[in-house]
Amino acid sequence: MTSITDPDGAIMPAMPPFRSEGNGPWVITRHADASLILRSPAFRMASPLQRVERIAARARRDYSDLLALMEQTLLFQDGPSHLANRQSVRRIVQQSMARWPASAILAEARRIAASVPSGGAIDAVVHLADPLPSLILASMLSLPVDQAMALRADATMVTRAWSHACSLRDYDACQDAARRLRRELRSSLQRDSVETGDASFDLIAFLLVAGADSIAGTISAALDLLARNPAWQARLQSEPKLMPGFIRETLRLAGPLRRLNRRVAQAAVDIGGVSIAPGDLVLLRIDSAHRDAEAFAYPDQIDPGRKNAPLLAFGGGAHMCQGPLLGAMEAEMMVTAIIDRFQIRPAAARGALLDHEDWRVFAHLPLILTPVAAEQ
Ligand code: HEM
Repeated sequence: MTSITDPDGAIMPAMPPFRSEGNGPWVITRHADASLILRSPAFRMASPLQRVERIAARARRDYSDLLALMEQTLLFQDGPSHLANRQSVRRIVQQSMARWPASAILAEARRIAASVPSGGAIDAVVHLADPLPSLILASMLSLPVDQAMALRADATMVTRAWSHACSLRDYDACQDAARRLRRELRSSLQRDSVETGDASFDLIAFLLVAGADSIAGTISAALDLLARNPAWQARLQSEPKLMPGFIRETLRLAGPLRRLNRRVAQAAVDIGGVSIAPGDLVLLRIDSAHRDAEAFAYPDQIDPGRKNAPLLAFGGGAHMCQGPLLGAMEAEMMVTAIIDRFQIRPAAARGALLDHEDWRVFAHLPLILTPVAAEQ
């Protein structure tokens, strides 16, 4: 069996919806089926809240901080309060974009690239993929960068509780992380009298997951693709205008989310020739949908020039991502700053992914960087 930490793990081909176990979730791999489900009112997001409440009651555990964070996680909300909370988060993201125009992001990306040691193998996650999203997120939340990094780690831990595969010991660790995260975020924002508008601290906490791991995952995936495709490095160095298309192709072929959060059917509905009953769960495999030849011609090839490529990397419908422009811009600027300065090669050791069933985010990515001037 392929380990979920293997960056080269096989991607399931696009096929009609199927269930691998009797009443397990329907697995959706075709682009058309996934797009339909994302936009259909017959489906809503499946929330882990009730499962965690049941486990807390059965195991007599205090998971109050974990539950409070889940309740305020935008992904698990719906109706008018979800819409109002989306507005609050949108304002925070827009303020950040006004503070960080492309030129300022590129200047910061160049500073980060200039501080990287070159010559031997470096971990591209630590030196190149993590710093820019952490810095911009810290600025968005008015936190010191070190604190934002520590809180990011706790927020990532909390997302483990979203998975069915979580053990009781994992839930305990998630609750500890949730307690720390809530306490420290609140005290830091209150101490510095940070203006959060009408957004609660718990609502803001979700940005620590949504607004950084996804971008760091995109940057490291782009660097991994480039290290393995030297011809593309040369192409991007000579034609920088291809960079936005290259990042879109990175999101399609190697994006940070392999699967979206599960949805649950609210009514009987036919999808791709199968009947889905109320209460059935669906699992949207966007890694497969992104290679569906019905949606993308020659789907395994990198082609930054694709016109109107129907990407699902930012989801769609009611829970569509709130930071696609910021996320793509950070990735474009960081990768531009790196390839302007370095030639990238894979190191002998292959990188490994974070151990998370839905994500494709590098935990380590050893690469060798050689200054461009030294190559000539
Ligand atoms: C390349 C970077 C990013 C990627 C690939 C990405 C991807 C996604 C995806 C796929 C979803 C929907 C998940 C689902 O339907 O199951 C989502 C939701 C969300 N994203 Fe992003 N995201 C990125 C960057 C950002 C940034 C920079 C922010 C904000 C700072 C952000 C904030 C959010 C929020 C708040 C939601 C939840 C929306 C809701 O439930 O209403 N994301 N993102």
